[in-house]
Amino acid sequence: MEKTQFIKDLKEKEGVSSPFLIKFSSTAVGKNAKAYMNFIFMDQSGEIEGRLWEDVAHHAGQAVKDAFVWVQGKCQSYQGRKQIVVEKLQILREDEVRLKDYIPESEFDADVLYAELLGYVSTMTDPYYKALAESILKEDDEILNLIKKAPAAKSIHHAYRTGLLEHIVSITKILDKLSQHYGKWLDRDLLFLGGFLHDIGKLWELSYERVTDYTLEGRLIGHLVMGVELVDRKIRNLEAVPSRLPGPFPQEKKLLVKHLILAHHGKLEFGSPKEPQCLEALVVHMIDDLDSKVNSISRFIEQDQTPGRWTSLNKAYGRFFYKPDWVFTKQ
Ligand SMILES: [Fe+2]
Ligand SMILES: [Fe+2]
Repeated sequence: MEKTQFIKDLKEKEGVSSPFLIKFSSTAVGKNAKAYMNFIFMDQSGEIEGRLWEDVAHHAGQAVKDAFVWVQGKCQSYQGRKQIVVEKLQILREDEVRLKDYIPESEFDADVLYAELLGYVSTMTDPYYKALAESILKEDDEILNLIKKAPAAKSIHHAYRTGLLEHIVSITKILDKLSQHYGKWLDRDLLFLGGFLHDIGKLWELSYERVTDYTLEGRLIGHLVMGVELVDRKIRNLEAVPSRLPGPFPQEKKLLVKHLILAHHGKLEFGSPKEPQCLEALVVHMIDDLDSKVNSISRFIEQDQTPGRWTSLNKAYGRFFYKPDWVFTKQ
């Protein structure tokens, strides 16, 4: 089924007749005691809210999160936001749609990013750190498969297919430059491991076959501890094969890698059980913060629909952002 109508292009009062993916669905009761449904529909270009007033009992069990639906209705403005008033809704099968049309993705190619990542791994010099990086990023088929798909978040930053890999490579590039700049004050290999592994737990913290959501493990354990567990397991596996390492993995190196993962959120109130206590951990935390902010703010500015020089209020940052010239010249 060809998808020709995309959310970002929908205009007020325009008729809608297009397939979408349901990101969120709920049933509510209006003031007139009549049941209705709230939706968030998504496609590769964005998201839009939807309301359905008819046949609610019929649709409630089927029009649920992760379902593909054909929607017929009208685009209207409600409290300053666009929404679709749904007149007809029909469930679609997965083989009737092309997943690509519904899931936003990185502008970078996953294979190119992955090759860049391995390029950085190949320049590492510490045999223990390098073996650890290879065992995770090169030799594990499950990780290889997931890392080309995973987003970096549900909504905040790099929240699209291959977003995690884009984030990891972006951070590693910056860390590489900083290690040249600061020379002996920073251990380049350790910094790299911080860049590679700080968010690696997100591969399993999130589910992302269709709509991105948290997994049970993600909710109960979280990606910091999951990353540390992975490192633990991988080091044990490496030590079990004597030819892989020059000797037992040095205890201090193991602790430093774990510390970089545990400290990368910077503060206890942001979910880090430890604040950065070595320079590499501090640098990884700051660059992680920088990279996620640059990504989330630039996307916000790019997607903002408010006319003029200023965006609408960004709730996460509590401020309006200035729109530079590129916003108006891009097409
Ligand atoms: Fe994180
Ligand atoms: Fe991160």
